[in-house]
Amino acid sequence: MPQKSIHVCSDCGAQEAKWHGQCPTCGAWNTLVEEVLPDSASPGGSRRRGAGSARGAGAAAAVPRPLREVGAAPVDRMSTGIGELDRVLGGGLVPGSLTLLGGSPGIGKSTLTNMVLGHLAGAGRDTLYVSGEESAEQVRLRAERLAGDGSPGAGAGPALDVPVLAETELEAVLDTLATARPAACVIDSVQTLRSAELSGAPGSVGQVRDVAARIMELAKQQGTAVILVGHVTKDGALAGPRVLEHLVDCVLQFEGERERPYRELRALKNRFGSTNEAGLFEMRQGGLVEVLDASARFVAEATRAPGSVVLATMEGSRPLLVEVQALVARSELEQPRRVVSGLDRNRVALVLAILGRHGSIGTGACDVFVNVVGGVRVDEPGCDLAVALAVASAARGVPLQSSPRACFGELGLTGELRWVGHPERRLEEAARHGLSEVIAPPDSGEGSRPAATLRHALAAALPKAHQARQPAPRARRDDGAGPSEDLVEELAASAL
Ligand code: TYD
Ligand code: MG
Repeated sequence: MPQKSIHVCSDCGAQEAKWHGQCPTCGAWNTLVEEVLPDSASPGGSRRRGAGSARGAGAAAAVPRPLREVGAAPVDRMSTGIGELDRVLGGGLVPGSLTLLGGSPGIGKSTLTNMVLGHLAGAGRDTLYVSGEESAEQVRLRAERLAGDGSPGAGAGPALDVPVLAETELEAVLDTLATARPAACVIDSVQTLRSAELSGAPGSVGQVRDVAARIMELAKQQGTAVILVGHVTKDGALAGPRVLEHLVDCVLQFEGERERPYRELRALKNRFGSTNEAGLFEMRQGGLVEVLDASARFVAEATRAPGSVVLATMEGSRPLLVEVQALVARSELEQPRRVVSGLDRNRVALVLAILGRHGSIGTGACDVFVNVVGGVRVDEPGCDLAVALAVASAARGVPLQSSPRACFGELGLTGELRWVGHPERRLEEAARHGLSEVIAPPDSGEGSRPAATLRHALAAALPKAHQARQPAPRARRDDGAGPSEDLVEELAASAL
């Protein structure tokens, strides 16, 4: 029989016997979480209450020690055999740690974790793959696919040596884990496991939390590094609203668009390393392959057409050159469309407003599409100038001068170009790939073409004839990248 459970509000901590959509105490919605009621009669009841609460009244109080005297054993990290993943983890998997790997369906979570276990098995470590989603046969098919390619990035033969357990009962998984005592274990996915102690459906907040907590307890005890695979909900949050993020040591997010080959791995939380790092992968026939020089590839692929600009951005501590593309077209709709991918929509709206007000390039009557090529997501203020230049170039229907042209910088509401972090690394990366005269905020350093305001930047980037109110003589009607000449005229007329 399932144990008794209560529902606790994660906002105010109120306890309810039944689940409510709205907490009767504080009024917050969807905050009630099911929890097992500790059974005071059984010794297992206090299992998860922490050592402190289990202490009797007569026990001596614990004595805190100065940090200097705390023996910190050197962490013996396990290399996953995938350089980009090791870097994001901060140097490899830490024994006894719990890592949550999130991402939308089909992004490649199972592929990545299969490869990791394959590499670890190849290095002679004990591994275990728990699959609650796919049957053992399906997992084998994938491992064969990974082995089949034979490229250095693939998991090769050892992927087939990984023991697989297709199981959704948490208790059975814990038993196997305790018997096998692997060095690394993957749970794919945490939402499919079900604890018999709780009545909630698999994947519900209470279940997910209980499953993770009990796996963590065992993993820490026996030093198994566990990777929990988790699904991401429609709005991008890891399912099991943030409850797991507190619990685990490391939260990794696997991002990218399913239709595109590039995948980005970021750390959102890392107790053993920095959260600034990001790794780039490409999904190929034989599995995920690390993209080691992403900048070179993106610069080579840059179209040099109207609406294209190279952004020197920072992926954590690493500079990266990506192409930002824009398309401006006359709108058929009363409310013109703003379609943005790879960037923050609100940020793009802001840049369009600044471009209209301080750059004399109005887009009010046009649909505007802005895209970071390759499915990469850019999440830093330094992208503003690239959006502005791409849209300006698209609206005018001319390529930027000396295209591919690189730039970076944040735009202020008064049209000024603001300094952003690590200008020297961005400029170095641009120079390494043959891009000079990078349009950048003042004081960015050698190799930049400083521009104090958006207007200066436009003057540096657009050909002379297109900075003033003139139709574009070179605008092509049929290439889809530039708007027609009358649109350019109209835009120029609507300026100021
Ligand atoms: P998968 O790892 O199953 O995604 P997730 O576990 O995140 O849901 O992989 C999803 C996609 O990757 C699938 O559509 C097929 C593709 N894929 C390849 O292109 N090459 C490969 O070698 C493998 C294993 C998968
Ligand atoms: Mg999967």
